[in-house]
Amino acid sequence: MKNFSKKNPLKIGVIGGGIILCAVVEYYFHFILRMEIIYTHIFYVPIILGAYWWGLKGGLGTSLILGFIHLFPHILTANLMSQNIAGSLLFVVVGLMVGVISDQRNRTIAHLQRVTRKLKRTQANLIKSQKHLEAWSKSLEQTVQERINELTTLFEVSKVLGSTFNIHEVLEFILKSSLHILHANTGSVMLLDEETKELRIRAAKGLSQEAVEKTRLKLGEGIAGWVAKMEKPLLISNISKDTRFKKFKSKEELYSALCVPLKVEDKIIGVLNVGATYLHEFTKDDLRTLSILAGEAAVAIRNAQLFTQLEELYMETVKAFVKAIEAKDTYTSGHSEHVTSYAVTIARELGLTKEEIDTIRTASLLHDIGKIGVDEDILNKPAKLTREEYDKVKKHPLIATQIIGHIPLFKKVIPIIFHHHEHYDGNGYVSGLRGEEIPLGSRILGVADAFDAMTSERPYRPAYTLEGAVKELKKNAGSQFDPKIVEVLCTLIEKSKLPKIEER
Ligand SMILES: [Fe+2]
Repeated sequence: MKNFSKKNPLKIGVIGGGIILCAVVEYYFHFILRMEIIYTHIFYVPIILGAYWWGLKGGLGTSLILGFIHLFPHILTANLMSQNIAGSLLFVVVGLMVGVISDQRNRTIAHLQRVTRKLKRTQANLIKSQKHLEAWSKSLEQTVQERINELTTLFEVSKVLGSTFNIHEVLEFILKSSLHILHANTGSVMLLDEETKELRIRAAKGLSQEAVEKTRLKLGEGIAGWVAKMEKPLLISNISKDTRFKKFKSKEELYSALCVPLKVEDKIIGVLNVGATYLHEFTKDDLRTLSILAGEAAVAIRNAQLFTQLEELYMETVKAFVKAIEAKDTYTSGHSEHVTSYAVTIARELGLTKEEIDTIRTASLLHDIGKIGVDEDILNKPAKLTREEYDKVKKHPLIATQIIGHIPLFKKVIPIIFHHHEHYDGNGYVSGLRGEEIPLGSRILGVADAFDAMTSERPYRPAYTLEGAVKELKKNAGSQFDPKIVEVLCTLIEKSKLPKIEER
């Protein structure tokens, strides 16, 4: 009650004042004016206000007080009439009705306030969830973008790896791509030596020259050796905290590292290492990406290795053919190597591509292979050949194509050999081609072949001096030889860029 009066002093004052005013009016009318029926509308004001402010209790309380005030003078004077009692009852009825309505209104307001508070809480939660969802969506988008970038790079890597068989290029590209994708700043590709069963560094970045040259790891030795032996990829987030490799101390002070095996058909051929010397921890996703790249890389490395073996086999075959020619023609011993040396030097001077130079090299080594089909007596005749004998010798380009023409490896070499005796003016053999019609390789080979023949001794003539050979070449430039190539050769001789004759 104390609390109630503290909280509502004004309202209590208003109601109290109203009640007193009503009592004064009632008694004034009854005792002073002696009127039996008074104007009672004023009594409703405190009743309605009490009911409005304090509900049913307020309405009932004020109406009962005012009802009693209204009846009391009539009771005192024993003049209680039914209309007086009805008037007081009406006060109570009005107080009850307004109180019930007020209580209902207050309950509705309280309910609405609770609903509003709940809605506000829900709204706050929704805003929070929305922010969380936005952050999650952003993170997801970033992850997806990173994965797309990785896959795109892996696809590009796969395309490039499939387009080259040069082992050096393949290894360098694998290392460069791995470092790029994983934001690493050091790494190496190690290949397993089949004979010694040791891992050796074949491509590296961020390692000292000494480390590259001297590092040899047996299976199980160090991190790379462990990976090669176990055939499992390895992620070391923080090397200094990893107890598995306490003994391993990197000179490069690695912070984090990834190492994956390079496997082809379940056989280990090496390992791929990448590392960070700065504060960067690789993740399991990084390890998965490097493993995918290693799968592509291993196949590319194996293909490049096989291609290198094939190239070696190819060159061995060529050398075997050259030996076969020289075994039959004693005068031309060493001739093929000399011609090759001159032709390759001229080709380089002309700025031809590596592939074109390689083709010219093979063609030069094999240019006289057709002489296998010419009688030994003619080839080794210690005198000038007769016309009939010379006609037989002239068939050697044709015989060459019959011997090696069906071998796919020599496909580009055949036209050069077939036309190497064509003359620039069209008076040569086999087809009588002229000028630019003659393959460039054949024109180079023709000049190199003639130069070596001139500077070599024959039973029927001494060797030309260098000056004599140059003079002879210049004399026949434009008729037998391509003048541009003669000019290149003469310039090379002047600048001493050709192998010296005494050394042949
Ligand atoms: Fe020839």
